[in-house]
Amino acid sequence: MERVVQITIFGLLLALVTTLPNKDDWDIYSFHINSTVTSRYATTVITSRVANRMDQPKEIEFQVRIPKNAFISKFRMFIDGQAYDGVVKAKEQAQQQYSKAVSRGQSAGLVSSVGRTLEEFKTSVTVAAHKKVTFELTYEELLKRRLGKYELQIHARPMQLVRDFKVDVYIHEKAGINFMEVTGGLSTKALANAITKTKTDKQVWVYFYPTQDQQKTCDSCVEQGMDGDLVIVYDVNRDVAFGDIRNSDGYFVHHFAPSNLPRIPKNVVFVIDQSGSMLGRKIQQTRTALIYILNDLAEDDYFGLITFNSALFYWKRELVQATKGNVDSAKNFAQNIDASGGTNINEAVLKGASMLNAHPREGSASILILLTDGDPTSGVTDIVTIQSNVRRAIADKFPLYCLGFGFDVNFEFLEKMSLQNNGAARRIYEDSDSDLQLKGFYEEVATPLLTNVTMTYTGGANLTKTHFRQYYNGSEIVVAGQITDNNIETFTPKVVAISGTGRMRFLDTNYTIESIVTDSGIQRVWAYLTVKQLLEKELQSSAQEKEKMKQEALELSLKYSFVTPLTSMVVTKPEGENADVLHKPKEVENPQLEDSIAQGYPLIAMYADLDSVDDMDQSQSYGQYKDVFDYDMTPSFDPLVQDHYRVDILHQGYPAKILTVTTVSSPVSTFHRFLLKTEKHSYPLCFDVPGETRLKLLHHPSRELFVNGVLNSKAYGGFKMIGIHFKNDQYVEIGTDGITVQMGQGVSRNIGRNLVTANITVIGRDKEFDVAVGDAQMVILIHQNGGEEFLWPVLRQRPSDNNVEGILALKPAVYEEVQQTPSTKVKIKDQEIDVTRSSAADYSVSSSPILDCWLMSTESALQRRLDDFTVAQL
Ligand SMILES: *[C@@H]1O[C@H](CO)[C@@H](O)[C@H](O)[C@H]1NC(C)=O
Ligand SMILES: *[C@@H]1O[C@H](CO)[C@@H](O)[C@H](O)[C@H]1NC(C)=O
Ligand SMILES: *[C@@H]1O[C@H](CO)[C@@H](O)[C@H](O)[C@H]1NC(C)=O
Ligand SMILES: *[C@@H]1O[C@H](CO)[C@@H](O)[C@H](O)[C@H]1NC(C)=O
Ligand SMILES: *[C@@H]1O[C@H](CO)[C@@H](O)[C@H](O)[C@H]1NC(C)=O
Ligand SMILES: *[C@@H]1O[C@H](CO)[C@@H](O)[C@H](O)[C@H]1NC(C)=O
Repeated sequence: MERVVQITIFGLLLALVTTLPNKDDWDIYSFHINSTVTSRYATTVITSRVANRMDQPKEIEFQVRIPKNAFISKFRMFIDGQAYDGVVKAKEQAQQQYSKAVSRGQSAGLVSSVGRTLEEFKTSVTVAAHKKVTFELTYEELLKRRLGKYELQIHARPMQLVRDFKVDVYIHEKAGINFMEVTGGLSTKALANAITKTKTDKQVWVYFYPTQDQQKTCDSCVEQGMDGDLVIVYDVNRDVAFGDIRNSDGYFVHHFAPSNLPRIPKNVVFVIDQSGSMLGRKIQQTRTALIYILNDLAEDDYFGLITFNSALFYWKRELVQATKGNVDSAKNFAQNIDASGGTNINEAVLKGASMLNAHPREGSASILILLTDGDPTSGVTDIVTIQSNVRRAIADKFPLYCLGFGFDVNFEFLEKMSLQNNGAARRIYEDSDSDLQLKGFYEEVATPLLTNVTMTYTGGANLTKTHFRQYYNGSEIVVAGQITDNNIETFTPKVVAISGTGRMRFLDTNYTIESIVTDSGIQRVWAYLTVKQLLEKELQSSAQEKEKMKQEALELSLKYSFVTPLTSMVVTKPEGENADVLHKPKEVENPQLEDSIAQGYPLIAMYADLDSVDDMDQSQSYGQYKDVFDYDMTPSFDPLVQDHYRVDILHQGYPAKILTVTTVSSPVSTFHRFLLKTEKHSYPLCFDVPGETRLKLLHHPSRELFVNGVLNSKAYGGFKMIGIHFKNDQYVEIGTDGITVQMGQGVSRNIGRNLVTANITVIGRDKEFDVAVGDAQMVILIHQNGGEEFLWPVLRQRPSDNNVEGILALKPAVYEEVQQTPSTKVKIKDQEIDVTRSSAADYSVSSSPILDCWLMSTESALQRRLDDFTVAQL
């Protein structure tokens, strides 16, 4: 049986108390956020003015949250009329110079990842008695069009009520703004009244000036004031299919997002992880999302569905058309996806690719989507080999999108693999809305409008990416570059692509390039895009190219003063204070963890293939978190105490908290799973027998040999005791603690682990008993689970004649798979039997490997009633 146990521990281990401003000590008397968006490029300035009201110097903190996608480009402080500017330096250089600040760790200023979309910027400075400080942070980002809209997210969390609080947003879009709305937690309740919106054809102004009273009343307002988002959502007009080009000072940016095109039928294959770690909410949400997605397929789409753990399961072995019948049947399949077993990503993705390759279709767009929540653990597990296999199989023919579910995935591996194959990786956060995130992602790629999009710019140079495998409705292609010699006369843009109606050329003769005399924004869009794309390319390049791309990205980052993963900002401070060094974090391995640390609530989420306490210690995840927190965990395993495991956590030697640990394995029950092997190379059958049942193992009446066994009541156990009767008067019992023989009426004695009589031989070895009785030979293996030992008998030599019965004497199963949909059936002796795919530990070998099997009712597997295999007494 697969015993995957997910342990989620929420705990307030170290209440990391944040010093909240107290107006009597220090006071944020003014907090302004000013965001200007031109051509989807947003520049936001946060200005916070703070006064030290005390009679002594005070360390004052500045802590704000900015979108992950943004680059910080400027930071300055004004103290006592003096400006202190942050300086962007190469990361290594900054690190060396300011190793002291870095070695101070948490107390040094830093940027850290919080939640799904935000990063936190934090620094502090000491301010003299009754003096003031002004902090000013600038960040920039290119808004990305998703599902037909742009979103400008502004996060406000001043940590106190602020007398003068203002958010000003100004948007200018030359193409015209077709709708705009303001959402987010800060737009709720009384705060909604604090918003003023003005919209003209091409411009939008949003002012948000909440009073101190209003700052206490919103969905995300707390005692200390507001803590939430203001989100400005909008889209631009797209009357001109060619989109719009803006240029200035020798740089241009082209936004291309035609929407008035017919959809291209798609061929889509979903490759879905159903390994044990998906158990519980994840697999439920995956089913929900999958059913929604299947419903959304158009009749002229073709689709395939593969689920995988260590093995692959097909709904159909090839792509089929999304007719109602097929969709219904696939939904049925999706409904029954269960989680167990390992993770064979390699084989699953290769099969998905070959399904698409086997089905070329003129005028269609193929898409491969992988959903997984873990590292490859079965089949090919070397990630470099997997990546090269996948690349070869896809051969640039269609994009691969990888969805990493939860925080236990190697996201960098998925990201690299998808980028290598013209796709993108997305993290699916494990939360109550995971199914919505999955649907949301699907919707982004649901409607291909163009394939093989090639953007050419005669007279242009140093272009950002110009080839796009597919273009989807609701998204946008953005290309920026330089105009050679700033010569607009010879600059000729052109787009060639394949649409649903054939090859298309977008050449808008009517367009005029709008030249703006001075708009450094255009140049910055180019720099922003170039750096982002170089960082992506670097991820998928060979070592040699990597250095070159890194160098290029670094130079641009320095030139435009972007804090990127390659640079750091050194915050200069008044004499005598240590500089802070700010690094941009990478897409974190474990955002939830980071998030909780940031909030001062360490959360340990742990995952283990848990067979026993010992395994827990060895689990990789455990090691990882141990490093982070330096905790000692002492798990105690008692499956009888419901389905909870207990984990005592010590922090620096002291008990921190005993936390609830829930298992999400198949509910712990006192059923024991038996495997019935097959002769052919097909899945074994499996069935469950309740605990404490006394089973007939081997009866050979003509030899007067009877072997019975009683199952224990432990979850994940096996036999407690095995009794052997031979010739009426000889009876021995074998338990994990040795051999018991009957010494006469009602008297028995444990005689240790070895017994040699004329007719019965039992030899106790390390993890087994070897038993010979008459001409039957048996091995009784001793397995261990959670500190509990149990027995599992295996027949090594059948008694010579055929007249034997019992569980151990069952012949290998012979069956045929007869139906896959709506539910799987197998046929045994003309009888069709419903089965589901499951797994079982094979206790007949000492390593007890987990095997996939067809689970069926006990009666069907045994072809008789269970009663025929039970005995009243051992
Ligand atoms: C916001 O920033 C823009 C651009 O820097 C500037 O023109 C404008 O005056 C600022 N608005 C406010 C209210 O500070
Ligand atoms: C593309 O999106 C636009 C705007 O949402 C919509 O009007 C149009 O029908 C969509 N096109 C297709 C082919 O679905
Ligand atoms: C689109 O591009 C792919 C990959 O470069 C190529 O194999 C395919 O033939 C192209 N399709 C058309 C219709 O040009
Ligand atoms: C392209 O970039 C290179 C390196 O920055 C620069 O030397 C060159 O002048 C640029 N080309 C144009 C046409 O601006
Ligand atoms: C050309 O542009 C003008 C002004 O933008 C517009 O009124 C006109 O309809 C356009 N003509 C075509 C053929 O798109
Ligand atoms: C039991 O052992 C004795 C002595 O070796 C032998 O004579 C007898 O045949 C055995 N009985 C059986 C049933 O094997």
